Amino acid sequence: MKKIHIKTWGCQMNEYDSSIIFKVLKKKFNCKKTNFPEKSDILILNTCSIREKAQEKLFHQLGRWKKLKNIKKKLIIAVGGCVATQEKKRIYKRAPFVDIVFGPKTIHHLPKMINLFKKNEKKIIKIKENKLNKFKFFKIHSKRKISAYISIMEGCNKCCSFCIVPYTRGKEISRSPEDIILEAEFLSNNGTKEIILLGQNVNSYKGKFIYGKNCKLSKLIQLISKIKKIKRIRFTTSNPMEFTKDLIKIYKKIPKLVNCLHLPVQSGSNKILKKMRRPYSISQYKKIIKKLKYIRPNIQITSDFIIGFPGETKKDFQKTLNLIKDIKFDMSFSFIYSPRPGTPAIRLNDNTSLKEKKNRLYILQKKINKNTNFFSKKMIGTTQEVLIEKSIYQKNKNKLFGKTQNNRIVIFKGPLNLIGKIVFVKIYKASLYKLKGTLIKK
Ligand code: SAH
Ligand code: F3S
Repeated sequence: MKKIHIKTWGCQMNEYDSSIIFKVLKKKFNCKKTNFPEKSDILILNTCSIREKAQEKLFHQLGRWKKLKNIKKKLIIAVGGCVATQEKKRIYKRAPFVDIVFGPKTIHHLPKMINLFKKNEKKIIKIKENKLNKFKFFKIHSKRKISAYISIMEGCNKCCSFCIVPYTRGKEISRSPEDIILEAEFLSNNGTKEIILLGQNVNSYKGKFIYGKNCKLSKLIQLISKIKKIKRIRFTTSNPMEFTKDLIKIYKKIPKLVNCLHLPVQSGSNKILKKMRRPYSISQYKKIIKKLKYIRPNIQITSDFIIGFPGETKKDFQKTLNLIKDIKFDMSFSFIYSPRPGTPAIRLNDNTSLKEKKNRLYILQKKINKNTNFFSKKMIGTTQEVLIEKSIYQKNKNKLFGKTQNNRIVIFKGPLNLIGKIVFVKIYKASLYKLKGTLIKK
C-alpha cells in the first residue's frame, strides 16, 4: 500500500473521522496521502447524508472511480460514513466494484478490513460497533494544527423530525473526560492553540470520569482551560434544549471560551419548531441569549436555519426573519428542507413550491449577509485579538493568516515566527468574512 486518497463529505465530525482513518492506515501501511485519485492504491469515500440526495451523489462519485478500477485492477475502493450506514448492502448491488463498506464507528478497523480483503478478495461490510474504540488512535503523530478538532461524543438521542443523524450515527455515546484531556494535552504539546470540541449534539455531552463521577460539558471545558498552552476553546454543535445554566455560567469563568456561539434555532416560528420536534420555544431561545449577553455583552450568535419545512407559511417565515432582526445573528448556515429517508417529517404534507422555498432562502441569506457585513465593517478601526494559523503565500511568506474569536479571517504582515501566537491587529479593511489589518503588538 503506497498511496491513499480520502474524499470527505459533510460536517467537522466527518473531517475528524477522516483524520483518524488516515492515522490508522499510516500506522499500519506507512502510506502517504494523495490528492489525485488516479495515483492512489486505495480510494476512501467518507460520506454524509444530512441533506440532498446523498445516495445519488455517492453513486455518481463511485461511477467516476469505477473507471480508475478498470485501469488499475488492484485498486481498493472503500465507502464509509452516514450514507454507507443508510445504504449498507445496497451499495454492493448498485456498485459491485466497491470492496469495503464501513460505518462511522468502525473506521479504525479499516486496516484489518483491507488486509482481509487482500487475502480473500471477498467483499467486506462492517458498520456496527457498540463502543467508541475509534478514538484510541489520537496519539499517532500527524501534522501540527494550530486549531484542532476533538470529537467528544457521537450520535444523538433527540429525534428532530427532519434529521437522519440518530439513525446513521446511533445513540449518544460520550468519551471519558480523561481520554479527551489526554488528547487535548497531546495536541497542545504538538503546537495546537485552539481546541474545537465536537459532537452532533455537543452540549448533551455526558462523560464519566474513570472513578465514576459524571462530567458535563461545562466541567470538561473548565478542565481543558487548565491546559496552559491551549489559548482558545470552541464547541459545536449545540442544541438550545440542553443549554443549561452551568454552561451559560462558565462564559464568565473561562475567558478562553471564545466570544461567539453557534446555537442553531432552525426556525423562528413556534408552530414549525413543534413540527420539527424541537422542544423549545422562541421565547426560551431568546432567554438563553439574553442570559449569555448579560455575561458577555458582545457575544456573537450564529445559527442554522431550515427553510421551507413542511407547513411553513409566509407568516412562519416572517417570524424567522423577525428573529434574525431581534437576535442579530452574525452568520448562519441555511438550507432548504431536504426530506430524509426514514425520518418522521418525510410523511408531512408539504405544499410550498420549490420556487417559493428558494425565494425564502435567498431573502434569508441576504439578511444574514447584511448582518455579517455590518459586524465586519464595525471592526474597522478596532484592535482585534488574532490567533495566527499560517502564512498565506509560498513566495510572500510574511503575509500571515489568522482568525478573530468571531471567525473572521485576518490577513496582515508579520514574521513567520508568530505563527501559533495570539497577537493584536488593527483592522483597516473589511469584506464579508475577511479583514485586513496591521500588527500592533507582539
Ligand atoms: N444538533 C444540531 C444540528 C446538527 S445537524 C442542532 O440541534 O441544531 C446540522 C444542521 O443540518 C442542522 O442544524 C440543520 O439546519 C441541517 N439539517 C439537518 N437535517 C436537515 C434536513 N433534513 N434538511 C435540511 N437541513 C437539515
Ligand atoms: Fe439532529 Fe436534532 Fe440531534 S438536528 S443531530 S436530531 S439534536
